[in-house]
Amino acid sequence: MKVTVVGAGAVGASCAEYIAIKNFASEVVLVDIKESFAEGKAMDLMQTASLNGFDTKITGSTNDYSRTAGSNIAVITSGIPRKPGMTREELIGINAGIVKSVSEQLIKYSPDVILIIVSNPMDTMTYLTHKVTGLPKNRIIGMGGALDSARFKYRLAEAMGCPASDIDGMVIGGHSDTGMVPLTRLATRNSVRVSEFLSTERLQKVLEDTKVGGATLTGMLGTSAWYAPGAAVSSLVQAIACDQQKMFTCSVLLDREFGLNDLCIGVPVILGKNGIEKIVEIKLDEAELNQLQVSAEGVKATNTLLHDLNL
Ligand code: LAC
Repeated sequence: MKVTVVGAGAVGASCAEYIAIKNFASEVVLVDIKESFAEGKAMDLMQTASLNGFDTKITGSTNDYSRTAGSNIAVITSGIPRKPGMTREELIGINAGIVKSVSEQLIKYSPDVILIIVSNPMDTMTYLTHKVTGLPKNRIIGMGGALDSARFKYRLAEAMGCPASDIDGMVIGGHSDTGMVPLTRLATRNSVRVSEFLSTERLQKVLEDTKVGGATLTGMLGTSAWYAPGAAVSSLVQAIACDQQKMFTCSVLLDREFGLNDLCIGVPVILGKNGIEKIVEIKLDEAELNQLQVSAEGVKATNTLLHDLNL
């Protein structure tokens, strides 16, 4: 199993590290445009192999995509990250061109690759990747919901003073501060509804903190977060590589599911060896469907900005 990670910045390197530590891939290729940067990160990571007990071979390449040939899965993290106060949507002008050329290069050398898009604004970058590559829709997956759901579980666990492993919950909708739809109604602690433990006000606070999860960290760190994004990506990669048939929220191209079409947005999916094996059309209540609809309008508004970029 060969995995390419494009962008050896904090998110890309963290993703490569978690993939290696989970020890399911034979090879990870890190690619970056900065001279010798990916090679340096790869060497640093390889020097942890005997300490962390993994056999995955990590190599680096300065923009030479021939080194990625035959990749089964490729993760695109390239582009500029958010600075404090910026929205993910503000990155579109620079990141769209980068994501387009990176996805074209990847497919040239790995025609059967499954792509995972992390670059922001993620839902729009995933949609753009569909438009420029024309790959079957099961092979393009946007990473956002897995991260937002992990942040939701963190906030619920924090509010209840319990371990996150006690919590089940998911966030659907766009990967943006206003677009996320945490499904509080369905969240549980060991199958007991979270509303049995937390007041409406406390749940509202959990919801609000979840939606600005990325922005809060950007303010604290001066740039985008990387540990949770890297871990979330590695979980998606593992689910595909190991054909786990595991359920995550991912941004996928919709064709009338949830009453939406011609956009990529976060919904529950099953991931396995074919990438997206199935979209799980769970039953949402009226309020949740309305929120998803509003979120979709926001994503579509960002998608229209692609027209002005002459890609
Ligand atoms: C975040 C970035 C990866 O939410 O979108 O931290």
